This record gives sequence, C-alpha cells and structure tokens, in this order.
Amino acid sequence: MNKQLRTPVIAGNWKMNNTPAQTAALIAQLIPLAQGEATVVAAVPFIDLPTALEAAKGTNIAIAAQNVHWAESGAFTGEVSAQMLQALGVPYVVIGHSERRQYFGETDVTVQQRVRAALNAGLKVILCIGEVLSERKLGITAEIVRAQTEIALAGVSADELSNVILAYEPVWAIGTGETATPAQANEVCALLRALLARLYGQDAADRTVIQYGGSMNDANAAELLAQPDVDGGLIGGASLVAEKFAAIIAAANA
Ligand code: PGA
Repeated sequence: MNKQLRTPVIAGNWKMNNTPAQTAALIAQLIPLAQGEATVVAAVPFIDLPTALEAAKGTNIAIAAQNVHWAESGAFTGEVSAQMLQALGVPYVVIGHSERRQYFGETDVTVQQRVRAALNAGLKVILCIGEVLSERKLGITAEIVRAQTEIALAGVSADELSNVILAYEPVWAIGTGETATPAQANEVCALLRALLARLYGQDAADRTVIQYGGSMNDANAAELLAQPDVDGGLIGGASLVAEKFAAIIAAANA
C-alpha cells in the first residue's frame, strides 16, 4: 500500500456562498481547528480571494479559486485568467467541477485548456471528474471517468502531474445527500490511479492525490478517507460549517 506517499488534501468548495466578510469569519473559525498533517484548502468565490488570502496568511489553510479561463487576457467578459490568480498569490484552482459542466457548458476540451493554462501559470489544479446517474446505471462509469481524465490531462507531463489533484465526484452524489459507498468511491479512485500508472508510470500514480467528493460529511468522512485509494475530499455543503469541516479534517489526520 502506497498511501503513506501521499499527504491527504481536504478541500472545501464554498461555491457561490459567503461575502468577503463572511469568508474571513469562516476562515478565522477554521484556523484553530485546521491543525495536523492534512493539507486544507478553501475554494472561495473570486471576489473573496484577496480577503481569504489575507485571512489565511501563515496558517495551515490554502486558498483556491473555483475556476479559471484558458486565455491570458482578452475579450472574455466575466472571466478570470490564471495570470490574474497568480498575480494575487492564489495557489490552487478547481477546474471542471460538475456544476461548471452542467450549468455553464464546460466540456472535456475546455477543461483541458483550463488545466493547461493553470499549470503554465504555476497553479496547483484540483481537477474534477465524475459520471452522472444515467452513466452509472448504464455501467459505463469507468469509461466516462477515464475519458474525462485522459482528455483533461492531454499534454500534461509527469513533472506537471505533481501539481494536479484528481477529485472523483459522482455527479449523483453532489449536493444530494446521497454518498457513494466507501467501496464505490475506492473502486473509481483505484481505477483512476491505474490509468495514471499507465499514462505516467506507477511512481507518479502512487504520488498523486485522488480525492472523493459528493456529500462527504462529518459522519461518513472517516470511512471514506480510510479507503486505500481515497486521499482526501472535496466537500461542498459540510465545508460551510466550521465544526463539520473540522471534523472531516480531523478524520483525515486520524
Ligand atoms: P457536496 O458538494 O459535498 O455538497 O455534495 C461536493 C462538491 O460539489 O464538490
């Protein structure tokens, strides 16, 4: 088992929640609770980024943006570039979240372009992939997540892979209260690791953090995080409540 090669990463995806002041307050609540070996990340709305960076400075909490455009600059109203995030000192960015794919028309190809731009700018990427319910029912989960991953990582070198975290998020489990069983979560995380081994070699695959996301909470985190191929979590709803998020962090540190 090579789990000890990987430091767990517990990331809160705060989605379209919290003003800058509310974000600063939540980070202040989290700081004393977010102790331990696990890397803790908070993905906040774009306009909260400067406040979040300031609030988390010198602490165990790293800040992420929730998306990034692929161009450096230009006529892309409403978008934010990797260079802008880098200039602000944002270390992480979430790319390919299913809500972006579902509601904002993002495709595997634009996800690949965003990953490319983020890595070029020196950002660390949390790359989200996952099947929808109809795909799971058809028995094509493996094919879907492999294709999403392979396309997103097209052109990414083995060196660059060390700046990529994969987040397996079955879409049917996001915000629904329905969690994948630990066995279901591990099965897909393991097949993603096997794909990484094929693409990049076993050592790179063994070093890549693969998170599970989808209704992870303080009650189910320990069992999910104990799985051999689950190295962390991407957490929505439960990450907005400091005590719940802290309990998930504690489970990762146990
Ligand atoms: P959830 O969201 O924990 O609320 O299901 C997970 C996510 O969207 O990353």
